[in-house]
This record gives sequence, C-alpha cells and structure tokens, in this order.
Amino acid sequence: MERRTIVLTGVTSGFGRESAKLLMRARPQDHYVVLARDAGKRLVAELTETAGATGVTGVECDLASLAEIRRAAEEILRGLDSGSLPPLGGYLGNAGLTLATMGERTTDAYEMTFGVNVLSHYLLVRELLPRFTGPGWIVLTSSDCHFGQFRYTLGATPAPRWESPERLAAPRTGGASEAGRAYATSKLGVIYLTHALVRRLPAGVGVFSYNPALVAGTDFFRHSPKLLRGMLKGFFQLQRILGRGMTAQQAGARLAETILTGPNAPTGSYLDRGRDVPSSAESYDEAREEELWREAARLVAPDRRAGRADTLTG
Ligand SMILES: NC(=O)c1ccc[n+]([C@@H]2O[C@H](COP(=O)([O-])OP(=O)(O)OC[C@H]3O[C@@H](n4cnc5c(N)ncnc54)[C@H](OP(=O)(O)O)[C@@H]3O)[C@@H](O)[C@H]2O)c1
Repeated sequence: MERRTIVLTGVTSGFGRESAKLLMRARPQDHYVVLARDAGKRLVAELTETAGATGVTGVECDLASLAEIRRAAEEILRGLDSGSLPPLGGYLGNAGLTLATMGERTTDAYEMTFGVNVLSHYLLVRELLPRFTGPGWIVLTSSDCHFGQFRYTLGATPAPRWESPERLAAPRTGGASEAGRAYATSKLGVIYLTHALVRRLPAGVGVFSYNPALVAGTDFFRHSPKLLRGMLKGFFQLQRILGRGMTAQQAGARLAETILTGPNAPTGSYLDRGRDVPSSAESYDEAREEELWREAARLVAPDRRAGRADTLTG
C-alpha cells in the first residue's frame, strides 16, 4: 500500500483522539502530521508510540491564529517538497469548539467560533489543496445541530442563522443562546465549505462533512462554567445511556471506520455517523457556498487583518 501523509486536527481529546489511534494502528505505513496547540504534549508522544517511532510529526498550531495556521501549512509543504513526507492523502478537520457566551476573539480579532470551526479549516485546506493526490480524502466534522430541529438538538442548541461571512466573523456580544447559535451556524458553514471544495479538489480526492451525533465524555463543554459543564456532561451521558448517543470510543471507532473503508458515498456527501444522508435543505446553496469561499479568502488575507479589530463591529 502506498504511503501517504495524513494531516490531523482535533485529535488531542474526545473522539478525535480515539479515531487517530485507530487510524494509526490500521495504517502504520502512513505519516501523521498532528496539528495541536501543544504538540509536545503527552498525547502526541502517545500517538507516536501507537503509530511507530517515525510515523508522527507534531506541529504546534493554535487554530485561532491565522499566522500559526500559515506557519503549520508551510512546514507541511516543505516536508512534502523535500520528500521527508510522503504524498498528501488525507485531512481530518475535527478541531472545533462551542462557547458558553459570545465575546471571545481569535488572534486576528474574529469571532472565535466562526474563526476556529470554519476559517481555520478553510485556510489549512486551501493552502494544502494543490498538493492533494488521489486516492485521498478530506473529512470535516460538522454536526446535526446544523438542521436546527428539536429532534437533533433536543432543544439544547438554537437553529443556525446564516449571514454574510463578514458578519459571522465579526466579534459580538451575547449569552448562551447566541453562542449556541454561532456554533450551529459554524457547522452549517462547514457543510458549505465541503460543497465548495467539491468543485476545487483534484480527481480521486473526496471531501465529506461528518456528523458524529451526540458524543458523551469528551471535552466539548470545556468553555462552560464548572457547574453548567457538569450538568451538560451528565445530560449527554444520560442521552448515551438512553441510546441517543455514543461514547468517545464508539464515536472514534465509527469515524475511523468511515475513513478507512473509504467513504462509499459521492464526494460532497454528509455522512451521519458514516451513513450518506442528505444534510438540511438550507445546506445546499451554491451561492452561499461560493460566497463563503470567496469571502473567507478576503478574511484570511494578511493585509486584510491589519487593524481590522477597529473596523468590524457586530
Ligand atoms: N461531542 C459532541 O456531541 C459533538 C457533536 C457534534 C459535533 N461535534 C464536533 O466534534 C469535534 C470534536 O469534538 P469533541 O466532542 O471531541 O470535543 P473536544 O474533546 O473538546 O475536542 C475538540 C478538539 O478540537 C481542538 N481544538 C479546539 N480549539 C482549537 C484551537 N484553537 N486550536 C487547535 N485545536 C483546537 C482541541 O484541541 P486542544 O486539546 O488543544 O484544545 C481538541 O482536540 C468538534 O468539531 C465538535 O464541534 C461534537
């Protein structure tokens, strides 16, 4: 089997971590580039052990910083150019967050949820895009909360509200409800990004948005105050016990299996725990998809960022 470089984000905790270990065990011949805020951390060492001594490179990268993303992408491109990394075959865009209230900003003064969940993956994939070769895959973690329907969110997350990328990227204030809405909206944005990529990827490279559904026992609620975090974690565990969710181990196994078996779905599909199903009607909108691709390019442009904190308001 041909050796490939696989770039992983969001594998330092939660089901991403479980998934990464399974991928590495199943394909130890591949080289894994793990992007993480603390790439020296014990986890990367643990993954290195799982994959074999030479199979993992940790690259420090806070996805809330466009400069760090560019630097990480340059490091990967250098490795590909020099031949120290095998050809690029995969990207897992699993890093993501949900906030308890609005107001947090990325280093570039963008709204944090949109910045990390959408803009970071846009920039990374765009920088690496010309280097993907088939057979390859890009999997971006979305969420069924993008539907905005009670049967998916159990009332815990408001429906998404799409606006221009410029407005979505603008920092704003708001409470828990607005923060939940920003999260749902960002996961709708992930699907738009997936659809936009279909029109840009080389033949043999598929792109998919992936819904893990409800996963208990992850650090998903890390930004909530302690008491609320405990309650939310308990609620998720209860849902899992009632059969409406998975453990991080189960969800990680499902994601790894989906990637390893090569999603049998057409490129662009929304994979609900691995199964190809339609995403929301709202998520099929070529005008919005192309607007996001175009506007994201403007938002991440280095000259655009200079002094922008003063120019954008909610
Ligand atoms: N849990 C669920 O029920 C659920 C449902 C639907 C979708 N999802 C999505 O699934 C993905 C994984 O979630 P999880 O539940 O496993 O939560 P988690 O344990 O909090 O994992 C989040 C991952 O994203 C990384 N990350 C967040 N912000 C980052 C940043 N600025 N720079 C670099 N990495 C960053 C974290 O890295 P650090 O260790 O450095 O923080 C971590 O590896 C997310 O995209 C989430 O939105 C989760």
